[in-house]
Amino acid sequence: MPVATNRWWQTGIIYQVYPRSFQDENRDGVGDLEGIRRRLTYLAELGVDAIWLSPIFPSPMADFGYDISDYTGIDPVFGTLDQFDALLEAAHEHGLKLLLDLVPNHTSDRHPWFVESRASRESPKRDWYIWKDSAPDGGPPSNWLSEFGGGAWEYDEQTKQYYCHTFLAAQPDLNWRNPDVRRAIHDVMRFWLKRGVDGFRVDVIWHLIKDEQFRDNPPDPDYDPGQQRPKRAFIPLYTADRPEVHDVIREMRRVVDEFPDRLLIGEIYLPIERLVVYYGHDLSELHLPFNFALLNAPWQAHTIAKLIDEYEQQLPPGGWPNWVLGNHDRPRVASRVGAAQAPVAAMLLLTLRGTPTIYYGDEIGMEQVEIADQAARDPVAHNLPGLGLGRDGCRTPMQWDAGRYAGFSDTEPWLPLETNYKERNVAALQTDQTSIYQLHRRLIALRRQHPALHAGNYRPLPTEGDVLAFVREAADERILVALNMGADPAEINLPAGQAEGRLLLSTFCDRSDERLRGKLGLRGNEGVIVRL
Ligand code: NOJ
Repeated sequence: MPVATNRWWQTGIIYQVYPRSFQDENRDGVGDLEGIRRRLTYLAELGVDAIWLSPIFPSPMADFGYDISDYTGIDPVFGTLDQFDALLEAAHEHGLKLLLDLVPNHTSDRHPWFVESRASRESPKRDWYIWKDSAPDGGPPSNWLSEFGGGAWEYDEQTKQYYCHTFLAAQPDLNWRNPDVRRAIHDVMRFWLKRGVDGFRVDVIWHLIKDEQFRDNPPDPDYDPGQQRPKRAFIPLYTADRPEVHDVIREMRRVVDEFPDRLLIGEIYLPIERLVVYYGHDLSELHLPFNFALLNAPWQAHTIAKLIDEYEQQLPPGGWPNWVLGNHDRPRVASRVGAAQAPVAAMLLLTLRGTPTIYYGDEIGMEQVEIADQAARDPVAHNLPGLGLGRDGCRTPMQWDAGRYAGFSDTEPWLPLETNYKERNVAALQTDQTSIYQLHRRLIALRRQHPALHAGNYRPLPTEGDVLAFVREAADERILVALNMGADPAEINLPAGQAEGRLLLSTFCDRSDERLRGKLGLRGNEGVIVRL
């Protein structure tokens, strides 16, 4: 059976909005749904196809929305359900799909399900969460660690048992072995799908099922306490990527498939060979297991070329690739790769085979903002101080213009602005035809225009030095992408048998329509797209 390559989530581009930081309309210093609605025109003009909203549901905000106390409402800080419906309708009118964040691994400890569960051992909802007696020595039932520091077990005085939490103690893990939990979350999914949302990004999906026997995780012999966060002391053998999780995901996929043309993405941090298993047998699980390979990779052409090859080779037949350069948990790409390489990174993201996800603000080259642990809002910075793990620095307000508070709000924002926002903002970069913003617009337009770029094959080209080069090929077009990941000029040969080309775009936005013969010269930190 031929596998489709033209569905909206394959040819399209996803844009992640972190709602607290996109646009504040009700003047409380925190972004909201009405703010996002006002900025839809911006997103449509940028040319993206879908927006994914980090959680907008009622939450005590211990983990800024990833601790949900009601799966089918909207937190008042973001707005109302009516405003959500208006946003969804307006997004669709702008030709934009809307994806929500589904957080099924855990709820808030204030969720009525957990309140009921913790009330007594006999509670009908007791088994909706993971409760265990102490170990014989009175300590926690296993050595499992929280991702956010400390142990994964919290003792409950009242009922004298421990509950499991992969993240904060205020985020108790649901028990996905319980069919009632599965049904309840499926109903949550249907609630939003019926309203018209176009799919979900599912939070920490590879964590959903833990070992039934609660076995201790084995120590990791490579653990370096000076360099790594404490959870790395153990290999998460029994707490994540368990075989049974695939049944859970298949069931979720069936729910999504009850509705036409919806999308299921999963957040998964695993090595490529484990990641690709999440497409499922006969592609029955996730449409897109998020591929985070570029988030940590050293920024060198040969390393990146190798990881692209490995990914391409390990994808299952028909499995559609995807690429992510930034998100709300990782340092900003412009700071990771440096301002000079940020345009090259954008060209890579938007010319690789597979669905790209752009993190808000990366299209204007927003940088990581330094926020001291003491001043941090993110609980990770407080729980694991001194390791530079706080995530506030990549969640700062979107920089729209040079006005006070960058056009994000007219009151002091919940997180500080980048200090150079007066120069780096949408309004300023829109008027500069060579800016990273204009580069994004052109890359997105080219990607849309050329089937080779949005649907074509990927063929790596051999190069020397710090240049990454590949060809994207569709039925009747061939496009070369050459990225100089170093600061020195470089030269490559056009591929054999294809001695001529026409340059379509440079990351400096100052060359186009040049005719090339035989060779292609690249300035330091330059990427180009050439039609062969
Ligand atoms: C992954 C999310 O991306 C992160 O922001 C959150 O803190 C954890 N999951 C817990 O939900």
